[in-house]
Amino acid sequence: MKQRLFSSLRSLQHENPLGLPRSGAPPTVPRMQRGLPQQRSIRDVRKVIAVSSAKGGVGKSTIAVNLALSFARSGHRTGILDTDIFGPSIPTLLNLSGEPRLSSNNQLIPLSNYGVKSMSMGYLIPEASPVAWRGLMVMKALQQLLHEVDWGGLDVLVLDLPPGTGDVQLTITQQVKLDGAIIISTPQDLALKDAIKGVALFNKVSVPLLGLVSNMSAFICPTCSTSHPIFGSPAHIAKMCEDQKLRLLGEIPLHPSICVDADRGKPTVVAEPDSLRAKAFESIAKTAGELVGL
Ligand SMILES: Nc1ncnc2c1ncn2[C@@H]1O[C@H](COP(=O)(O)OP(=O)(O)OP(=O)(O)O)[C@@H](O)[C@H]1O
Ligand SMILES: [Mg+2]
Repeated sequence: MKQRLFSSLRSLQHENPLGLPRSGAPPTVPRMQRGLPQQRSIRDVRKVIAVSSAKGGVGKSTIAVNLALSFARSGHRTGILDTDIFGPSIPTLLNLSGEPRLSSNNQLIPLSNYGVKSMSMGYLIPEASPVAWRGLMVMKALQQLLHEVDWGGLDVLVLDLPPGTGDVQLTITQQVKLDGAIIISTPQDLALKDAIKGVALFNKVSVPLLGLVSNMSAFICPTCSTSHPIFGSPAHIAKMCEDQKLRLLGEIPLHPSICVDADRGKPTVVAEPDSLRAKAFESIAKTAGELVGL
């Protein structure tokens, strides 16, 4: 499998991606300049929801995986696709590793845990190896993850996006039919400024915005139950949602168990299903599911 991915990526190095003249021939027009690429559905998948934020480290992967687990727990056939080529998190979050097998028609077969199917670059490269690729190689890998996975019939696929508003986000929003996007932010102004850029990107490409999740919204003291808004007042989030005409889908507190459960590969929704934290994830998944008609 690795050989197949790497050989197709290696072949790119021998192509002429910029269409520069070879042996005096007139330059060819690169395919991406002939207009916007066509949006395609992901085969065998009914609904696709992207979890995004331009800012790094605000909890996209943690929330994406807990939403996927919530969908699965309410009976939906669910998958999660890790589109973070440079920093895949889903293998750790779902405690999965190993090379995916290939189906009879040469598609990657997802790895599953807790009733959720998953695919990630992390399964295709050794854990400690950095991916040191240029843009075209990344795009090629992304295409394979988007269109060469045998999901075997899903009600919903959650896409965990990398931070930023660059190549990967543009490719996904322009080439995949997304049913909705969820923006993640902490209440901090620094994060909200970046979140607004993410909102603008989805609006520009006419992807329906399902709403915003305020992550690490407050720390509830375990001894006195006082709420400490470590990353800023909830009023910041409320104002941002009002300004951007976004629904506030829910708030996830800053809680050490969320972090510990993520690291040990058993996220909150399966580790402590009766906790208020798990209920908050489930409520967000319920609203998002209703909004996309799941
Ligand atoms: N509500 C929370 N309470 C405590 N820790 C959290 C919470 N949400 C996320 N974390 C922790 O914060 C860190 C960043 O989370 P995560 O990796 O999900 O963010 P990300 O936005 O996907 O990051 P990246 O931009 O690098 O992909 C992780 O250590 C995670 O366990
Ligand atoms: Mg992430």
